[in-house]
This record gives sequence, C-alpha cells and structure tokens, in this order.
Amino acid sequence: MECPSCHNQTDDDIPFCIVCGNEFPSEARTLKGITIHQHYLLGDLLGQGGMGEVYEGIDTRDNKRVAVKLVLAAIADDETTKKRFNIEAQALTSVCHPNLVSVLDAGTDEITERPFLIMDFVEGCGLDELIADKPLTTSNALRIIVDIASAVSTLHACGWLHRDIKPSNVIVQETGEAVLLDAGIARSLTSNLNITMMGNVVGTPQAMAPEQILGKALDARTDVYQLGMLLLAMLLGQSAFSAGSTQSWFHMHLSGGLKVTAGQDQRGKLSAVAGKAIATKPDERYQTVDAMLEALHEVIN
Ligand SMILES: Nc1ncnc2c1ncn2[C@@H]1O[C@H](COP(=O)(O)OP(=O)(O)OP(=O)(O)O)[C@@H](O)[C@H]1O
Ligand SMILES: [Mg+2]
Repeated sequence: MECPSCHNQTDDDIPFCIVCGNEFPSEARTLKGITIHQHYLLGDLLGQGGMGEVYEGIDTRDNKRVAVKLVLAAIADDETTKKRFNIEAQALTSVCHPNLVSVLDAGTDEITERPFLIMDFVEGCGLDELIADKPLTTSNALRIIVDIASAVSTLHACGWLHRDIKPSNVIVQETGEAVLLDAGIARSLTSNLNITMMGNVVGTPQAMAPEQILGKALDARTDVYQLGMLLLAMLLGQSAFSAGSTQSWFHMHLSGGLKVTAGQDQRGKLSAVAGKAIATKPDERYQTVDAMLEALHEVIN
C-alpha cells in the first residue's frame, strides 16, 4: 500500500512503511477493494486524519470518481453519535458553493459499521503540502483566503459552523481555485466529547480558537479565528507552525502570543487582516466572515 505520510509504496502484508517507518492503522490496510454501502468501491488511501481515513472511490452506479471518508469506529462507537452524524451529514448534502466540496451521500456502512461520507473527488494539492516549504505569494494567499472565506460565509448563511478550518482541509486546484473540505464534521462527531486542556483534545492545536480550547460556546467568530490562522499559515509557511507541543500552542492561542507584522504594502495589510481575525477575545475580531471578506476586498483594491 501507499504510505499516507510519505507516499512511498510498501508490500501490502508489511504493517509499516519501509521508508519512513510510519505504522499503518490496521483498518486502513484492509479496506482497499471493498464496497461501502453497496455502491462505493474503495480504491487507494488518500490520507488519514484524526477522525478516520479518506479513500479514492468509484460510485459503481455511474462510475463517478468520489472521495470516501470513513470515520474511525472508535470515534463513533455509539448509536447516538452515528445517528447524529447521519442526520448532519445528510443535511450538508444540500449546502452548495463552488469553493466547498459537495457532500453526495452519508450513512453508516452495514458491514464495517463505520459512518461514511461520500464527497466529490477534488483534484489538486493539499494546502498543507503547498505551504510546507515556503510561504505563498501575496496574490495566491489572497485568492485562496477569499475563496475559503466565501465558502464559510455560505455555510454560516445555511446555519453551519465549520470548526475545523486548517491547511489540510483545503485543496488547491490546478486553476488556482481553492476548495474547503470537512464542513460540519467536527460538530457531529465531537459534541459529546469533553474538550478540555487536560483531557481529550479534539482538533488541531495550531488551528484552535481560544473558546474551542476552553470548551466554551462557539459562534461565527470561531471560524473567523480559524480563517485568520489559515491566512497566517499561508503568509508564514507551515514550518512556522510545525514546532511546539499541544500545551504550548494552547498557551499561544489563549495569551494572544502570535506576533503578526502588519505593514503598508499589500502583504502587510493582509497580515493586519489575519491579526485582527485572530484576536483572543471574539469581540475584537471581525464579527462576521462577511466583514472579514470586506476587509480582504479592501486589500485587493
Ligand atoms: N473530497 C476529497 N477529494 C480529494 N482528496 C480528499 C478529499 N477529502 C479528503 N481528501 C484528502 O484526504 C486527506 C485526508 O483527509 P482527512 O480529513 O482524513 O485528514 P486531515 O484533514 O489531515 O485530518 P482531519 O481528520 O482533522 O480532517 C486530505 O489531506 C486530502 O488530501
Ligand atoms: Mg480533513
């Protein structure tokens, strides 16, 4: 199989990557070639995150290429979570925006008993990979943040928060257009988990808003914060975000420790937008994503 971390090939019967040593999760090793929910034939593993794995797949009814997210059995191990996931994921199938991946189907697979989500397959490169070595140019960062903020604005208009905006949830297509993944998934799968600084941490420490870390109520301004962090990651490069323990990231978010260098040129003005979006106190951020979008358009003009 292909290693989800370094993409080198290892024989299927070896349980770890022979190049980077990454151990393959047992669930990921066995699912290529099986059909989920009678229609979705699993192909190569595209990657894995905190909640499960994503496979390339084919809808065997019309040969459409899809992406199949299989949620880890351990995350949705009770009927209530599965039901909530099904209801919320089904609701997402009606949210449409060109910069938001379309959710085509959702449910719980009868054989593996794992909740699944069927999405349009998005061709392109993960934003996390694009910024791994170096920051983006100002114009590319601007284009991507406007695309993603527009998608989030539509989500909000439909009554959803995203809650997990981060580079690995953005795919940049060859045209330069960016597409946001995993909307709403965090809510349906984590709302019965206790998020505390000492206990279970659900989320990516680098991307979490202070209110998420503290387990407080979330609102549109939480997504504004995450958009600000996404913008900052594009302006500084991922390496600026790779170091540090979970606790040190939490401290950084809670104490407003991220230093943003604003300036009078376009890049400096863009940094200033990121700086305002990541204010520790929600009242000091843009109050809506549309207000942040307005500020971004001012930077463009
Ligand atoms: N609809 C899609 N089309 C193409 N590739 C996708 C699609 N959805 C996900 N992927 C790929 O699968 C990889 C794994 O996604 P996954 O969401 O499991 O990981 P993650 O985003 O790193 O973690 P998290 O569980 O926190 O979202 C992503 O990095 C992305 O490249
Ligand atoms: Mg993801």
